[in-house]
Amino acid sequence: MILSIIAAIANNNEIGMKNELLWDLPIDMKHFRETTTSHPVIMGQKTFESLGVGPDGTQGKTLPNRRNIIITLNKDFKKEDTEVVNSLDELDRLLESTMGDNEEAFIIGGGQIYKLLISKADKLYITHVNADFPDADTFFPTIDSDEWEKMSEDKHEKDDKNIYDCNFVVYERR
Ligand SMILES: NC(=O)c1ccc[n+]([C@@H]2O[C@H](COP(=O)([O-])OP(=O)(O)OC[C@H]3O[C@@H](n4cnc5c(N)ncnc54)[C@H](OP(=O)(O)O)[C@@H]3O)[C@@H](O)[C@H]2O)c1
Repeated sequence: MILSIIAAIANNNEIGMKNELLWDLPIDMKHFRETTTSHPVIMGQKTFESLGVGPDGTQGKTLPNRRNIIITLNKDFKKEDTEVVNSLDELDRLLESTMGDNEEAFIIGGGQIYKLLISKADKLYITHVNADFPDADTFFPTIDSDEWEKMSEDKHEKDDKNIYDCNFVVYERR
C-alpha cells in the first residue's frame, strides 16, 4: 500500500484556524478532489467536523466516492458511511487487511494527524500557498529536505477566483 499525505500549506506551514481552512482556493479544491477520489481518505475527528453538517443534522460530513476513515479516541463515535479507528495500530490493521499492495490511501489532516503520521508516509502532495497567516492556530510539520525529495511541481499564478499563487508539489521519501 502507498500511504500519502495531502495538504495545502502557507509560507509558515499554516493550515487552519478555528477548525476551518484559511483560504478559499477553488483550484486547490479541484486538485484535492481529483487526487483523492476513489481512494480511502483518513482524517482526524476535528477535520471531519470541519467538512460541514451531515445529513443527520450533526457536524461532520463524508467526502463522496471515497472510503472515509476517521481517527478518534472516542470509542462511542459512530457516523453513517464512515469507518472509525481509535488508535494508529487499529488504523494499520484496517489498512493492511483492506488495501492491496499498489493501492494508495490519503491522510487528509488535520494538524494532529499529519504530525502523527508523517513518519509513516511514502509520499506528500503539498499545495504550497504563497501567503502568510499570522493568526493561524494549526500547522503542518516541517518538511525535511533530507527526508523528502521534490519529484514534481506545477505552479499557478493567482487569478480572479484564486487569490493566492500556489504550487502543487509532490515529494517522495528519499
Ligand atoms: N490546509 C489543509 O490542507 C488542511 C487539511 C485538513 C485540515 N485542515 C485544518 O486543520 C484543522 C484541524 O486540525 P486539528 O489538528 O485541530 O485536528 P485533527 O488532526 O483533524 O483531529 C484531531 C483529533 O484526532 C483524534 N486523535 C488525535 N490523535 C489521536 C490518536 N493518537 N488516536 C486516536 N485519535 C486521535 C482526536 O479526536 P477526538 O478528540 O474525537 O478523540 C483529536 O481531537 C482545521 O482548522 C482544518 O481546517 C487543514
